[in-house]
Amino acid sequence: MKAIGISLLLISISTSALFGTNEALNEAQMLHKIIWSPRQSEDANPMIFSPLAADTDANEIVTEPLSPEEQHKLRKADQITKLPGQPEGVNFVQYSGYIPVNKKEGRELFYYLVESPQNASSKPLILWLNGGPGCSSLGYGAFEEVGPFRVNDDSKTLKINKYAWNKLANVLFVESPAGVGYSKAIDGQINGDELTALESHVFLVSWLDRFPEYKNRPFFIAGESYAGHYIPQLADLILNKNAMKKTTFINLRGVAIGNPYIDKIDNRRSQDEYYWRREFITDECYQAIKRDCEVYYQTDNFTTACEAARNKSNLGSFDAYNIYAPLCISSNGTVKKTDETEMGIDPCIDSFVEDYLNSKEVKAAFHAEQNITWWSCSNVNYPYEPDTTVPTIKKLITKGLRVMLYSGDIDSIVPFTTTRKSVKAMQLPVKKPWRPWNCDGQVGGFVEEYENLTLATVRGAGHQVPSNQPMRAYYMFSNFLQGKPLPKSPFVPRYD
Ligand SMILES: *[C@@H]1O[C@H](CO)[C@@H](O)[C@H](O)[C@H]1NC(C)=O
Ligand SMILES: *[C@@H]1O[C@H](CO)[C@@H](O)[C@H](O)[C@H]1NC(C)=O
Ligand SMILES: *[C@@H]1O[C@H](CO)[C@@H](O)[C@H](O)[C@H]1NC(C)=O
Ligand SMILES: *[C@@H]1O[C@H](CO)[C@@H](O)[C@H](O)[C@H]1NC(C)=O
Ligand SMILES: *[C@@H]1O[C@H](CO)[C@@H](O)[C@H](O)[C@H]1NC(C)=O
Ligand SMILES: *[C@@H]1O[C@H](CO)[C@@H](O)[C@H](O)[C@H]1NC(C)=O
Repeated sequence: MKAIGISLLLISISTSALFGTNEALNEAQMLHKIIWSPRQSEDANPMIFSPLAADTDANEIVTEPLSPEEQHKLRKADQITKLPGQPEGVNFVQYSGYIPVNKKEGRELFYYLVESPQNASSKPLILWLNGGPGCSSLGYGAFEEVGPFRVNDDSKTLKINKYAWNKLANVLFVESPAGVGYSKAIDGQINGDELTALESHVFLVSWLDRFPEYKNRPFFIAGESYAGHYIPQLADLILNKNAMKKTTFINLRGVAIGNPYIDKIDNRRSQDEYYWRREFITDECYQAIKRDCEVYYQTDNFTTACEAARNKSNLGSFDAYNIYAPLCISSNGTVKKTDETEMGIDPCIDSFVEDYLNSKEVKAAFHAEQNITWWSCSNVNYPYEPDTTVPTIKKLITKGLRVMLYSGDIDSIVPFTTTRKSVKAMQLPVKKPWRPWNCDGQVGGFVEEYENLTLATVRGAGHQVPSNQPMRAYYMFSNFLQGKPLPKSPFVPRYD
């Protein structure tokens, strides 16, 4: 619980919700820490901007390129023969390994490539990034969300994820920034948005040398949560680097971000509003919070009035990143099994995945050289970052990139309430107004189309949309890839 001292002080409203049962921080909890941590850290920590800024010339990270022969050899070594506990009948190719992004500093990013079972050579390439900051894209993205397998509750065997995104595209999971999950950062250098974007670009250029058949392939970036910072910034950097024509061209076509963390102040405001909208707090409590906490949202000054207002709430223990999901009850470190059919995924899956990924055999199969500490989402030292994300996304839209912001509508960590406000702030012309969209004869969620931007909700999903609503997430992403609008919701007769 070491990491949440400030949160404990500041948000009686959410601490019990978030920290009632589990000791470790997960993706949402780490993000929560960032959202609610005071800006004073900015002054206290002179390293808020990337330490690279001082000795880096015009956004260049100098890393010696590997020779084509070396890359070819490494690529062969990276192929995964078989993952421990993998089910029979796996008909796609998997690779994983390390790409150095800063040799001198011992920084290497770990990747896991899952190719498509059919027509892999003509399908696009998707980069998937989880947030935190500090959470593993392998632990979350690959094994709980869009990857081909889920870990069974024995922590030893895998089962097929029917709605794996590698049926749609070749999916590249990257542990980022350096130091997260299997990715290495020997020196423990402080990360930050700028360094994360720069190293991700270095990674991509070198990775494309290892897998040259993917050069010029239509490329998309997807992810969630704090990747609301990573993704727009990396996309912006890619477009700039492409324009400079000094590095490998990356054929970036679009970005899709789930429950994107893009505006800290409004995110705080919207969390409180969301608890009121979802009947977790009373009208009076919400009115008091709204009246007395605005100063705090904007300036981090946690006044007595705001504290008193927040004290009026009484939320109990629940899963704040899926407010209707059951909790994984673990009082003494023993995971209590729960009904997996609820909310699409076993609420205790974090611990099954962590145990699986840290076993010796699994690490060997993945060619991984260190344990994953992803559940804690905290093995990176990440400074406070100012929010420049809304204008960055707007810039991408202006440049004609295909952008989708989607949102599980029962997440209180980055609630849809804040995403909608961020989009309003972009002042884009609405192309097609708000309407329900169809998935399998049901309302999959709601969608509003703008020029070059789709804003969509996924009904009944929390922070990790593809975990809770795998089919809806799959169809939504499939349409996005094809540049098609989400299908119309069928007419259902109403009986009065
Ligand atoms: C693979 O590509 C071929 C030729 O474009 C096409 O006919 C076939 O339907 C594709 N298969 C799948 C599963 O996408
Ligand atoms: C915080 O707000 C209170 C009440 O408005 C004020 O008295 C105090 O000076 C403020 N503190 C800071 C550090 O601005
Ligand atoms: C809020 O609740 C905490 C914990 O019960 C208490 O210590 C604190 O004095 C309360 N603050 C106000 C302003 O009522
Ligand atoms: C942990 O708690 C469970 C149920 O509450 C109990 O069955 C188990 O024996 C406990 N384990 C330890 C190591 O105390
Ligand atoms: C890695 O994790 C395994 C399983 O949890 C544990 O037994 C081992 O001691 C860990 N190794 C290191 C170097 O932390
Ligand atoms: C959408 O992209 C096109 C370029 O493909 C651009 O001309 C247009 O201005 C963009 N729309 C907005 C609202 O930025």
